Amino acid sequence: MAERVVLAYSGGLDTSVGIGWLQDATGKEVVALAVDVGQGGEDMDDIRQRALDCGAVESIVVDAKEEFAADFLMPALKANAMYQKTYPLVSALSRPVIAKHLAIVAKSLGADSVAHGCTGKGNDQVRFEAAVAALAPELTSIAPVRDLALTRDKAIIYAEEHNLPIRQSAKNPYSSDKNVWGRAVETGFLEDPWNAPIEDLYEYTQDPSVFKEADEVTISFVAGIPVAIDGVAMSPLAIIEQLNAVAGKHGVGRIDVVEDRLVGIKSREVYEAPGAIALIAAHEALESLTLERDVSRYKRGVEAEWSNLVYDGLWFSGLKRSLDAFIDDTQKYVSGDIRLKLQGGRAVVTGQKSESSLYDFSLATYDTGDTFDQSLSKGFIELWSLPSKIAARRDAAAK
Ligand code: ARG
Repeated sequence: MAERVVLAYSGGLDTSVGIGWLQDATGKEVVALAVDVGQGGEDMDDIRQRALDCGAVESIVVDAKEEFAADFLMPALKANAMYQKTYPLVSALSRPVIAKHLAIVAKSLGADSVAHGCTGKGNDQVRFEAAVAALAPELTSIAPVRDLALTRDKAIIYAEEHNLPIRQSAKNPYSSDKNVWGRAVETGFLEDPWNAPIEDLYEYTQDPSVFKEADEVTISFVAGIPVAIDGVAMSPLAIIEQLNAVAGKHGVGRIDVVEDRLVGIKSREVYEAPGAIALIAAHEALESLTLERDVSRYKRGVEAEWSNLVYDGLWFSGLKRSLDAFIDDTQKYVSGDIRLKLQGGRAVVTGQKSESSLYDFSLATYDTGDTFDQSLSKGFIELWSLPSKIAARRDAAAK
């Protein structure tokens, strides 16, 4: 029996041509695997059939939407994950779940390798291959676009010569990637960071100036996980989808950034992630209500480290697992309700409450009912500033 390779299949030009291209170059049979992470657009059945029409010996579709939301996006939310403080890791989060299914299918079908359609210039190649290496070290990764010199021009010629059923719609001017956590758009005229994004780029969000009237939503959390919107219990996936719609309507979560890629390049990226940005705003507010000051401050550092690791393709790593253990421990009391006002491109927290709140009215108030003993502050400040005072005396004497 010929050796087999499992290809992460998107249904687009590169991975469709990649099927025959891989087969010709390696002699391996190609199994196509399309993983649904909420990218929307085409019917997954059409994508499955297209892989067969392009020469795959088998074509598999996995609906990973709920798994992606529960096991990948919820940990990201608990970590308030943002790369460079701006990018909620949309593509970086989907690669490990796709890689996980590549490894599962490769093992179950006895394949010796996996393949993906990434170029050699981006982060996604690293994420796929580092994840596969961690999950199934015996598998080899092949990237036809990078390793087998499959350029876009060659792909178009190959598709025409082999009569592949690929809709060569008007050539997409951008490279985009999409899942339920958001969309990434790059290349084309965006490669000049001076060029402002145009409305055409966006799919998940409307121009923030269109809807004047605000929407309000109340999100309920239990142990850091959103469980209901306006009192209606829902799965993480359904909550994200609903927030994508309502926050997207107000243009929440549009991001435009020059980003530091792992491979050393700076690239200009436009993102839209309405649900993710609304959820992170709500989650952060609930944490400020329920986490102790030190835990909260320390966690900000852990969040940045966690985001860097995941951006850099190390989802399945020892450090990431250890940081998750810390983060999970902090979430025990992150339960309660956050009210958000969505308007003009912003998700603003307008109400917060929790049974585990550390906010104590009788300590905070300046009105009657104050139980805070202000006289204690005097001695506290004396000792707090004592090291500075001693050092200042030393510095003055040394002059
Ligand atoms: N720069 C982003 C990241 O590395 C987005 C990548 C989008 N991928 C794509 N194939 N267009 O996470």
